[in-house]
Amino acid sequence: SFEVELARSGRTLVVSEDMSVLEAVEAAGVPVMTSCEEGICGTCETKVLSGEIDHRDSVLDDQERAAGDTMMICVSRAKGDRLVLDL
Ligand code: FES
Repeated sequence: SFEVELARSGRTLVVSEDMSVLEAVEAAGVPVMTSCEEGICGTCETKVLSGEIDHRDSVLDDQERAAGDTMMICVSRAKGDRLVLDL
């Protein structure tokens, strides 16, 4: 599991291995736009303020992945133990 801090909402969530970041955010009652929930469409793209991202989507190119400032929260996860999102 890892922690996700929602900077604008002032919330910190724990994302367990069997759930997505999106599911954790939705369970906390924070509204996010989603569509495919498979890392294909780009609808759930979320700005990342800090933390290392484990990119698992098919939307971002190599340069965008390397920049590490945005992620598809329906499929991508944290490489470390904490991410801070602009939510
Ligand atoms: Fe489509 Fe996340 S909802 S990429």
